[in-house]
Amino acid sequence: MTLGILAAIHDEVDDLIAAMRHEDARATVHTIGMRDYHVGHLHGHPVVLVLARMGKVAAAATTVTLIREFKVDEIVFTGLAGGVGPQTRVGDVVVADRTIQHDLDARPFFARHEVPLLDRAEFPADAELTAQLCRAVEDFLRDDLPTAVPTEVRARFGVSEPRLHVGMIASGDQFINAPAAVGELRARLPALEAVEMEGAALAQVCHEFGVPYAVMRTISDRADDSAHIDFASFLKDVASHYSAGVLERFLRARQLAKP
Ligand code: ADE
Repeated sequence: MTLGILAAIHDEVDDLIAAMRHEDARATVHTIGMRDYHVGHLHGHPVVLVLARMGKVAAAATTVTLIREFKVDEIVFTGLAGGVGPQTRVGDVVVADRTIQHDLDARPFFARHEVPLLDRAEFPADAELTAQLCRAVEDFLRDDLPTAVPTEVRARFGVSEPRLHVGMIASGDQFINAPAAVGELRARLPALEAVEMEGAALAQVCHEFGVPYAVMRTISDRADDSAHIDFASFLKDVASHYSAGVLERFLRARQLAKP
C-alpha cells in the first residue's frame, strides 16, 4: 500500500523529504508538472512525498498525478490551518472528518457549496485512515511534543496543552484573516473547525478516483487580523515538528499493524 503525502508549503514537507533520503538510499525523484515527487520509504512505509503548493488547483493537479502516475493507494495531506471552531487554539490539531469548498457557489444551478454533477458538497474522510491519524496525533501531543518543540518556543506562540479536534475543514482560494469573514463562515457552516486552501480539492479528486484520504492540520492562527503575523516562524519552529512527529508515529504504527 503506497501512501501519497502532500503539503502546501516547503517547511511542511522538507523534513519528511530529508528523513526519506536519509533512510532510503534508493529513493528517487520524478519531476512532473513543475512538482518533484519523492518516491521511497519513510519509517519503513512506501510513500510518495510532494510539495503540492498552495491553493485548490495546485492540490487537485498534484493529487491526480499521485493517483495516475504513481498509483498511490491512499493520500494524506499535512499542513496548517486557521482555527474557526469555538475551541480551536493555536497549536491544536484538527483532523478532518469531512471537507467542503467554502468558496464554491454555482447558484442558482446548484445549491451553495455543492460540486456540480457530483451531487454533494461534503467529502467524508476515510474513517480508518482518519482514526489512525487521530491516534498518532494524540500520542504525539502527549508523549513527543515536550521534546519536539521546546517549552520556550511553545510559550512564544502561546501553545499550552494543545488538543486534537475532529470535524469539518473548509477549503477555499483565500487566506482568511478577518473576524467578519470568520463570523460569516461560521454562520454558513456551523460545524466548521478550520479553514485552509487545499483539503477539499484533494478530497474531490480522491472521491472521483475512489482513493481514501485524510487531512491533518496544525492550527497556526485564528483566521483573524493577526493571522499572518509569525506565520513563517510558527511553520518552521512549531508546525514542521508536528508534521514530522505525527507522520512518524502514523507510519510506524501502520508498519507494526501489517500482517
Ligand atoms: N492556512 C493557515 N491559516 C489559514 C487561514 N487563516 N486561511 C486560510 N488558510 C490558512
